[in-house]
This record gives sequence, structure tokens and C-alpha cells, in this order.
Amino acid sequence: MQVIKYMFQPHGDNRGQLVALEEYKDIPFEIKRVYYMYDTGEGVVRGHHAHKTLQQILICIHGSCKIKLDNGREQKEVALEKPYEGLYVSNAMWREMYDFSSDAVLLVLASELYDENDYIRDYNDFIDFVNTLESR
Ligand code: TYD
Repeated sequence: MQVIKYMFQPHGDNRGQLVALEEYKDIPFEIKRVYYMYDTGEGVVRGHHAHKTLQQILICIHGSCKIKLDNGREQKEVALEKPYEGLYVSNAMWREMYDFSSDAVLLVLASELYDENDYIRDYNDFIDFVNTLESR
């Protein structure tokens, strides 16, 4: 299972750093939605779902956290610790986010508007979905 991590280009000068992200250039999809998580409690695990079509890029713009990705066949753990790195999360990918530092801000760029019907919240349903995709 390939983990796609983007290293964005910081525009640094003596004032500090700036990262700019443009759809289709730095981000491989049209950005239709942005959301972020902060003040995440110690020991909290978020996510526990997959999406039928949604693609996302996760950027821990402050602090750190870990992401577990599971494509139904393999699992990988990825640490997000730098504001210039972005983790690509495709559709049909179960994800869990945890080990948030108390100062963590996890920013998510999403390819679609919020749609509850795009969620797969049951792990067995997710495995069925992956199997259906693969048998096509
Ligand atoms: P939730 O799906 O539980 O977050 P996660 O699975 O990533 O831990 O979302 C928390 C709440 O926020 C839930 O009430 C739905 C709402 N929400 C929106 O209204 N819009 C959004 O784009 C997202 C991601 C969540």
C-alpha cells in the first residue's frame, strides 16, 4: 500500500514561512471544503470511517498527530508533524486519527461538500465496499 505524502514548498524569508496551496497544482483535486480539528482531547481517536468518493489532504498545521490508513488489505501508520507536509487520503480508505498533541490543529482539504451519504461508518461495510470495487 502506497502512502502519498506531499512536501509543500514553504516560501521562507527572514519574516518566517508561508505555504500556499492551489487546487490541481499543489492539491490533486478541486478544493470544495476545508475543515479543521483543534482542542482534541488526550487519548481521543477520531475518524473511524471511510468515504465512497471523497478525497482529502490532511495537514497538521500546528502540533502533531498520527493517522492510521487501512485500504481493507493493509494498514499503515503515518505521523504528521510538520506544517508543510500533507497526507493524501483517497476514497475507499478507512482512517483513524489519534495521538493529537494538545496544540494540534489538523486541517483537512476535501474534494467534495459534506455529504453524510458518502460515509461508510461500519468496518464490515467498508470491507464489502472494497471487495465490490475490486471485483469490478
Ligand atoms: P465527524 O464526522 O464525527 O468527524 P471525524 O469522523 O472526522 O472525527 O464530525 C463531527 C461533527 O462535525 C459532526 O456533527 C458532523 C460535523 N461536520 C460538518 O458539519 N461538516 C463537515 O465537513 C464535517 C467533516 C463534519
